[in-house]
Amino acid sequence: MQLRIVILPGDGVGPEVTEQAVRVLQELADIHGHVFHFEEHAVGGDAIRETGSPLPRATLEACLDADAVLLGAIGSPEFDHLPINQRPEAGLLSLRRSLGGFANLRPVISHAVLAEVSPLRPHIVAGTDILFVRELLGGLYSGEPRGIIAQNGSSSAYNTMRYSVAEIERVARIAFESAMQRRGKVTSVDKANVLETSQLWRTTVSRVAAEYPEVALDHLYVDAAAMHIITNPSRFDVILTENLFGDILSDEAAVIAGSLGMLASGTVGGLVDLFEPVHGSAPDIAGKDCANPLGAICSAAMLLRHTARAENEASDIDAAINLTLEAGYRTADIARGPGDYVIGCADMGQRITEALAEVADMRYAYHAV
Ligand code: IPM
Ligand code: MN
Repeated sequence: MQLRIVILPGDGVGPEVTEQAVRVLQELADIHGHVFHFEEHAVGGDAIRETGSPLPRATLEACLDADAVLLGAIGSPEFDHLPINQRPEAGLLSLRRSLGGFANLRPVISHAVLAEVSPLRPHIVAGTDILFVRELLGGLYSGEPRGIIAQNGSSSAYNTMRYSVAEIERVARIAFESAMQRRGKVTSVDKANVLETSQLWRTTVSRVAAEYPEVALDHLYVDAAAMHIITNPSRFDVILTENLFGDILSDEAAVIAGSLGMLASGTVGGLVDLFEPVHGSAPDIAGKDCANPLGAICSAAMLLRHTARAENEASDIDAAINLTLEAGYRTADIARGPGDYVIGCADMGQRITEALAEVADMRYAYHAV
């Protein structure tokens, strides 16, 4: 298999974690005899510093030409003073729009070995396996009109939450199709008791559900969903929701996994799939080699699973992560007990790489007998 992967390290801890994800992908390519071509480009604050734009043309062209894009993180306090459309985040939003992926998949899994790490009680997080399907292009993020009006020394600001039936239908289908591969349940999250967009969301999702009789659908208001996610996360299979609700709820759900650093995401449905850890640039710990690269490494696994349809390779990464965590290796964000070996970002990448070789050996031994 040959894959052209554009790497966008971005800001803060982005370069550290993507470096480890690339290392893991390279090891996997060596083990399985694949050829992965990596091409690195600037995006976000990093690109503003280099070129003045958060999404330089060369970066976008390379991404459009690739089989998949793996991004680190975006955002830097250095550019907080800039207007919204010139900030590093504008580069990410415009990259997402140009690549066209509208369904952002965010799995949240409670690893048994990390159950103690979550601030939630272990019996609450045990067995949690949720897939968030977050609509990624519409809603408040891109609705027009938007702006700030300054008048008579006082200002007001406004954004528009807008969804069309077609936008809701296409992301709903991804949620139902994902549920068919999983435990057959979709929970659609909205605020249909207050918002017209949510009323349209609810009726459209219910109509699409009729095409998937094997899948059970229920609806929750977003405020109630926020509570249920934290009190009874194992009741969920697929959670389907609009852009901003999904942004907020997926960060909340990260506490189930033990740390935001554990979460991966993949955006599908467009011209080129985009993979990125859910965590941000974390400028406070950037450059200190203590970030958790597992979110980025799991994003690489998602790339293999969704874009390359390489399920064996992707599950090798999952197995290598499990082996490494079971052996007690932890980055600082997921370290708790006295039996933990606290290691840095690069060391974690190294451990996963070594565990991959072990996983491959085990598979070989299994097939040889
Ligand atoms: C995320 C991030 C982004 C978002 C930011 C960086 C624009 O928080 O991917 O969840 O809001 O979508
Ligand atoms: Mn977010």
